[in-house]
Amino acid sequence: MMRQLLGGLATAVLLAGAPQAWAGDADAGKEKSTTCQACHGADGMGIDPMYPILAGQYEDYLAHALRAYRDGERKNAIMAGLVTTLSDEDIEDLAAFYASLPSGVETLEEE
Ligand code: HEC
Repeated sequence: MMRQLLGGLATAVLLAGAPQAWAGDADAGKEKSTTCQACHGADGMGIDPMYPILAGQYEDYLAHALRAYRDGERKNAIMAGLVTTLSDEDIEDLAAFYASLPSGVETLEEE
């Protein structure tokens, strides 16, 4: 009984910590990503190496980065202008969408 309880707890903790357990809605994020695609690409890989790859990054990290741009903690002239109108929900949805895309890390290693 105790064993099962502990096992269940461990599973719950693992699930909560997994990057897949996002709070945002990836489908809604996709719809909100139209402006982002101009630089980060439809696949989140960036249309040019000067734009960071968003595909497959941790949702938490992406959401944190977007909030930091919006709140002025992270300064970048390009991104700052794009995030001013984003709500917390928009940020969670966008982060969920980009986190759900396949990561391009292998592609980078092959180049
Ligand atoms: C005009 C081009 C452009 C557009 C449009 C754009 N970005 Fe960016 N984005 C950049 C650049 C350049 C950087 C790198 C800035 C830096 O060094 O901090 C960046 C950085 C980021 C980062 C941080 C990535 C990291 O690895 O730290 C996130 C997250 C991000 N953008 C999300 C978005 C989202 C979401 C949108 C749409 C709302 C968007 N961007 C639209 C150019 C763009």
